[in-house]
Amino acid sequence: MRTDIVELDADHPGFNDEEYRLRRNELAAQAGAHKAGNPPPHVDYTDSENATWATVYAELSQLYPTHACCEYLDTLNGLGLSADRAPQLRDIDDYLCEKTGFHIQPVAGLVESRAFMKHLANRAFPSTTYIRHHSAPQYTPEPDLCHEILGHVPLLAVPEYADLMQLIGEGAEGASDEQITQIGRLYWYTIEFGVLRGQDKKVRAYGAGLLSSPGELAHAVEERPVMRHFDFEVARHLENPITTFQPVLFEVCSIKEAFFQVGAAIERIRHNL
Ligand SMILES: [Fe+2]
Repeated sequence: MRTDIVELDADHPGFNDEEYRLRRNELAAQAGAHKAGNPPPHVDYTDSENATWATVYAELSQLYPTHACCEYLDTLNGLGLSADRAPQLRDIDDYLCEKTGFHIQPVAGLVESRAFMKHLANRAFPSTTYIRHHSAPQYTPEPDLCHEILGHVPLLAVPEYADLMQLIGEGAEGASDEQITQIGRLYWYTIEFGVLRGQDKKVRAYGAGLLSSPGELAHAVEERPVMRHFDFEVARHLENPITTFQPVLFEVCSIKEAFFQVGAAIERIRHNL
């Protein structure tokens, strides 16, 4: 009987693709064998995987100049990503380590919240290595390499954002399950779906869920779901939809403000306020 390391839901775009499922198992095994402190393993991405990367990269690159926050744009250029070849986590790890001391921890897939935040507390970012299914380059039901690299990595090279990530991780240390859930919600409405409204009053994304999804990035900036100034007392009671665009987004005026807002919210969570 066949044993899969990676279970895909029946509605996953790659569910009926045997080759894709074997590839996911192969990359999961490779990531699972990685030892913290070693450089991430080299992955020989196939022509199909590189083509999917190229499609996602091309579409998002057109939006970034007008839709991504300035901090993101500054470091995206410094990363020197290829438009047609998926990047290697080893190169990303070197880059981030030099910029902010963050490391990349390769993982097989979604990491349980407490373990994920423990990595952040240690200035390590858990990153998948697989690429979304080629039949649906605009959509992935789970984080993939495109999400990690185009959503999170450029900002992990920004000191304020790197510190924000570590702050969230440290906030989860010794927390109860309910407190972890609340910190997860903070992460969702800042790190994944946060927007900035800077001095020019334009809305720009810093959330990785927006920056790695052409459809949701365009929707957030052009069509404007409900925007509120960041308010944890509102955010903590909202559901966070996974399969639809976010109906409410929270804005801050800078990543530094996000750091202070998140710090204050963690204080409230840890004191059960
Ligand atoms: Fe993410």
